[in-house]
Amino acid sequence: MRKKITVIGAGHVGEVTAFKLAEKELGDVVLLDVIEDMPIGKGLDMREGGPVGKYDSAIVGTNSYGDTANSDIIVITAGKPRTPGMSRDELVESNFNIVKPVTEEIIKHSPNAMILVVANPLDAMAYTAFKVSGFPKNKVFGMAGILDTTRFRAFISMELNVSVENIQALVLGGHGDTMVPIARYTTVSGIPLSHFLPQDRIDAIIERTRKGGGEIVKYLKTGSAYYAPSLAVAEMVESIVKDKKKVLPCSAYLEGEYGINDLYFGVPIKLGANGVEEIIEIDLTDEEKEAIKSSEAAVRSVIDLLKF
Ligand code: NAI
Ligand code: 2OP
Repeated sequence: MRKKITVIGAGHVGEVTAFKLAEKELGDVVLLDVIEDMPIGKGLDMREGGPVGKYDSAIVGTNSYGDTANSDIIVITAGKPRTPGMSRDELVESNFNIVKPVTEEIIKHSPNAMILVVANPLDAMAYTAFKVSGFPKNKVFGMAGILDTTRFRAFISMELNVSVENIQALVLGGHGDTMVPIARYTTVSGIPLSHFLPQDRIDAIIERTRKGGGEIVKYLKTGSAYYAPSLAVAEMVESIVKDKKKVLPCSAYLEGEYGINDLYFGVPIKLGANGVEEIIEIDLTDEEKEAIKSSEAAVRSVIDLLKF
């Protein structure tokens, strides 16, 4: 039997995510939004594409949580995106007031689901879904690190004119400007990045990666990125549904790992049928540890604003 995957929020990220999940036949997809009828139209449009797109996934759009009942995975994209000049953290109050009630509805209808959070500020919204749901920590996680890492990989591939598939990279930390791209663990087919690029070019690519979300917002003006984010969500869902146990940078609940407690934070995890199956702790230099500390402080300052 196919898995049931619900995407809450049928805006930019929600609709592209639903489409990618259906195209990849990762499960049957329910797309829910508060805007009357809109998700029904989007869902029907995607369903009608099945014969020519060659996917059999059933896709249904809805305004009713009843249709989400017994989902295996719930993706929360409901929330406001930032606009030029805003930081993700400025969304905390408005999106807490969306993610909290959304989580309350989800758990009523799908008590055994996993929750994959996308809404920003990401680490704080994952923390919200975790606290409000009361679900075990392996079943609640956030998408950000794959997006930050794919940006890092794309920029390296653009600079070196090599296939994106050859580039392995890692970005840790909170999903904000304090994120920590780790150049030392970044390779081109196993060859360290430092073989190809001088330090000043690596630093420039790291800086562009940190500001990658803002760069897109500057061009879009009315919202934020959604193609790369949706592909990142699809990679996570695929790893769970197919129990691939991919090692991916995701926001996970930490209880002592990396010296961090009671916080959602971007770290490498093994993601499989049981959700977060392992948190992988890697050796860091003193400089990298300092960068992680600043990122932790930045995430904690946002989480401290949450009023449950
Ligand atoms: P969008 O504005 O296009 O879509 C948001 C949708 O959520 C809208 O259709 C809206 O009607 C819906 N919505 C609002 N309240 C709702 C509720 N209570 N229940 C159901 N639906 C509700 O925004 P977009 O571009 O899709 O971004 C969504 C969120 O994802 C934003 O917070 C954005 O910052 C975040 N994001 C996070 C990324 C990450 O790396 N973690 C990447 C990209 C976006
Ligand atoms: C990004 O980095 C919106 O957080 C999202 O593009």
